[in-house]
Amino acid sequence: MKFGIHNAVMIVFVGALMEAAVAAECPSSRILDAAAFASRDGGGYSYRNQAEWILDRLDLRPGDTVVDIGAGDGWWSDKLAQRVGPSGRVFAAEVRSDLVNGMKQRFQGRPEIEPYQCPTDHPGRPKGSLDLAFISQTYHHLPVDGRVAYWRALVEQCKPTGRVCVIETYPEIAVRGSDHGTQLSKLIAEAEQGGWIAVEVWFLPGTQHYMAVFAPKAAFFLRAD
Ligand SMILES: C[S@@+](CC[C@H](N)C(=O)[O-])C[C@H]1O[C@@H](n2cnc3c(N)ncnc32)[C@H](O)[C@@H]1O
Repeated sequence: MKFGIHNAVMIVFVGALMEAAVAAECPSSRILDAAAFASRDGGGYSYRNQAEWILDRLDLRPGDTVVDIGAGDGWWSDKLAQRVGPSGRVFAAEVRSDLVNGMKQRFQGRPEIEPYQCPTDHPGRPKGSLDLAFISQTYHHLPVDGRVAYWRALVEQCKPTGRVCVIETYPEIAVRGSDHGTQLSKLIAEAEQGGWIAVEVWFLPGTQHYMAVFAPKAAFFLRAD
C-alpha cells in the first residue's frame, strides 16, 4: 500500500482527536495558567455552571434510580432526570415542605421526578434501590453527629454497585461562605467510617467547589462467582 501525504495527515488528525478526547476525559492537574487556576466565582451557585461536565462524569444510564438529597428548587433533579430518561426515576428529597410543594408544582406532568419530604437523618429510600445519591451543597446541612450514620444508611439504600456524589464548598479555598462547606479530609474520613471509598475527587474549575464520588467499600470485595 502506498503511504502518501493523505494517510500521514489522517494519522496526525486522528492522533490529535484522540489526544483531545483523552484530555477531555481526564484533564491534567498541571497548572498552566496560575491566574486562571486562581480565578474563582464565590457566587452561591457557580458549580451549576459545570453541570454538564459533572453529569458526564457521573455516567448515568437510562433507567437509573437517583435520589437528589437537599433538592431545594429541583434544579439538579431536572438535569438528573434528563440523564436517566423516562424509564428512570429521580427522587427529589427535601426537608422543607414549602420547597417540596414548589417542586411538586414545577414537576407536574414529569412522572420521572418525585419530590418528597425526607427525614433529616437518612434519605428515606427503600433498601437496595439507588444507583446514585446526589448531594449538592447539602452535606454541611446534615446533622453533625449523624453523618457517619447517614453514610451507613446510604450503603443500605443504594444498590451494591451504587454511588454517592457530593458537591461542596471547599473551605480552604473559599473566597466567601467557607462555613457553608466541608473540609475534604473530613468528608472522606466520615464516608470511610460509614462504609464508602472515594473513587474520584475533582476541583470544579472557576468555582470554589469540589466534587467527590464514592463507591461502597463492599464493592471492592464483590466476587463474580
Ligand atoms: C444550599 S441548598 C442546595 C440546593 C441544591 N441541591 C443545589 O445544589 O443547588 C441546601 C438544601 O438542603 C436542604 N436540607 C437541609 N438539611 C437537609 C437534610 N438533612 N436532608 C435533606 N435536605 C436537607 C435545605 O432545605 C436546602 O434546600
